Amino acid sequence: MKIVCRCYDITEEEIIETIKKYNITSLEELKRILNVGMGECQGRTCIPIIISIMSRILGKSPDDIEVPKPRPPAFTVRLGDFIGDEDAHK
Ligand code: FES
Repeated sequence: MKIVCRCYDITEEEIIETIKKYNITSLEELKRILNVGMGECQGRTCIPIIISIMSRILGKSPDDIEVPKPRPPAFTVRLGDFIGDEDAHK
């Protein structure tokens, strides 16, 4: 059992089963079913591995796997910005 998405404890087997069961063709569809890529790391850890798995299962190049569009907030916000800390930008 190989854990691929550590944020949600999703295994490689679960990903493969889901791709086959629902005829998944895009990462967005997989995210909606398994929540992969939506954890604390925002997919930095698992998305590249999942793209590799999808490319293997679907017989596509990794470049042909459709990746989800980023949604706001798409930039880092320092905690100090929320409390008006002027030193947060230094
Ligand atoms: S490891 Fe998948 S969202 Fe963090």
